[in-house]
Amino acid sequence: MVRVRIAPSILASDFARLGEEIAAVAAAGADFIHIDVMDGHFVPNLTIGAPVIKSLRKTTDLPFDVHLMIAPVDPFIDDFAAAGANILTVHPEAGPHLHRTLQRIRAAGMKPGVALNPATPASVVEPVIDDVDLILVMSVNPGFGGQSFIGSQLRKIERVRSMIDAAGRDIMLEVDGGVDAKTAPKAIAAGADVLVAGSAVFRGGAGAYGDNIAALRAGG
Ligand code: DX5
Ligand code: ZN
Repeated sequence: MVRVRIAPSILASDFARLGEEIAAVAAAGADFIHIDVMDGHFVPNLTIGAPVIKSLRKTTDLPFDVHLMIAPVDPFIDDFAAAGANILTVHPEAGPHLHRTLQRIRAAGMKPGVALNPATPASVVEPVIDDVDLILVMSVNPGFGGQSFIGSQLRKIERVRSMIDAAGRDIMLEVDGGVDAKTAPKAIAAGADVLVAGSAVFRGGAGAYGDNIAALRAGG
């Protein structure tokens, strides 16, 4: 059985204590740190950029899974590489040349990912599947934490799982949005192997993070 990886989204953490929050989820068993970068234009919310990620790099050795909800992407790729991002995921709608963007991400030394909005079909990733290391199926519309899981995305996860198995490469299948102890087993059964969770991890204080993460993994 595939080991499911858990990527806490720091969007739901206490931003006044980001370094401590990352250390706490790392100690509680997180596999990746999921960092949501929003520009107030591609999505209707603003978060953090490369300078903050660079500071956070000192706090953990866990891979930084950076989810870009910005447009354009290309002028910032080198900044995210220099800041210490390990996986850099982009939305196809963020620019006209997805293939080139993915190549630039790899050339900068990071693993390229593609994120599919709820209304974006799985087929968008087909022509570039040999160029990605991660496919992210959004189970909410991007922009905010704390939204409800959109059940229709389970079929897309299944479809992407078949595409990945047919491609025969090691490509992570990540799901992001509304993932909790109830929806995680459904996402895992549909074929996801990386679960992003904000609210479901960062609740109850640092003492609860271990149990919160274990509850998400239990679905596997
Ligand atoms: C939404 C972000 C998510 C968000 C998930 O645009 O991409 O990573 O933080 O938050 P929850 O787990 O609370 O839905
Ligand atoms: Zn995200």
